Amino acid sequence: MSKVTVVGAGNVGATVANVLAHKDIVNEVVLLDINGDLARGKALDSWQQAPIDYYSTKLRGTEDYRDTRGSDIVVITAGVPRKPGMSRDDLISTNANIVTSVTKSIKKYSKKAIIIVVSNPLDVMTYAAYQASGFDSSRVFGMAGILDTARYRAFLATELDCSPKDLQAVLMGGHGDTMVPLPRYTTVAGIPVTELIEKDTLKGIVERTKKGGGELVGLMGTSAWYAPGAAAAQMVESIMKDENRIFPCCALLNGQYGLNDLFLGVPVKLGNTGIKEIMELKLNKSETKLLHKSADHVRTVIQTFEDMNIS
Ligand code: NAI
Ligand code: 2OP
Repeated sequence: MSKVTVVGAGNVGATVANVLAHKDIVNEVVLLDINGDLARGKALDSWQQAPIDYYSTKLRGTEDYRDTRGSDIVVITAGVPRKPGMSRDDLISTNANIVTSVTKSIKKYSKKAIIIVVSNPLDVMTYAAYQASGFDSSRVFGMAGILDTARYRAFLATELDCSPKDLQAVLMGGHGDTMVPLPRYTTVAGIPVTELIEKDTLKGIVERTKKGGGELVGLMGTSAWYAPGAAAAQMVESIMKDENRIFPCCALLNGQYGLNDLFLGVPVKLGNTGIKEIMELKLNKSETKLLHKSADHVRTVIQTFEDMNIS
């Protein structure tokens, strides 16, 4: 019996649950929210889609952590999203308390779970969940890189007028404007993107990617959910099927890339035990500099979190 809990039944959480149900890879998805009726309603709506879209995954909405007992994976999306004019970091005062208390409740009923954090500011909320859970860092990590890379690949596909399926890319760093898309590791059906798109255009796409989340907040008045929800569900799939897929995820670094004691986006291998390996790329000097600059920014937000003294 396999079970995934998604905490937060808002835009992102409900999408994670719905995409997961469509994949039909777990027996049950529990959707938990402080607003139990919202969670029950969205779970019921998704279950009523099953006869149309042909899946058997059961969905249950709740506000009661006892219903999450024995979850294999828990995806945390609880918290507030940003509004126009806000940065992800502005959310810390609300979301740090939420993510810490959610993680403690999850731990009570699912001691062996793998935790995937989605709430923002992502890199620091992942650190908060890691601290609150006391789990090994192979079992606590965050979703951002798959989304940011997807945005980058989508923009490139638009520029090249080709299928997004043929775009492969690596993107590292924090989930914010200091993220580091890596054109040197970007290919289109095996062809280096640098051979297909001229330098200035590529630079423009990299800059648009860095502000990709903000672009959507500007359009919708709140942050995105389709691509974020699908990205988190893809991580769940690689774990549940022990696929060993390699994705950029927010992981605890212990010496990799010359960085220690912080969570940052890096390519990892994801399988049934969580993060099986952190891949170390041979970054050049300017790429390393950008990554370290991003790490410095994440450290300032970690400091804000530490200063909050949440117990
Ligand atoms: P939303 O406002 O639609 O949903 C959040 C839900 O969390 C609400 O239903 C709320 O009732 C619930 N919630 C609040 N406190 C809770 C608690 N203590 N326990 C259980 N549920 C609780 O927000 P949305 O758009 O779903 O975004 C959720 C979070 O994900 C935000 O922090 C947002 O910034 C972040 N996000 C992160 C992305 C990433 O790439 N890592 C991408 C998109 C959003
Ligand atoms: C995003 O990138 C807000 O982190 C969220 O869409």
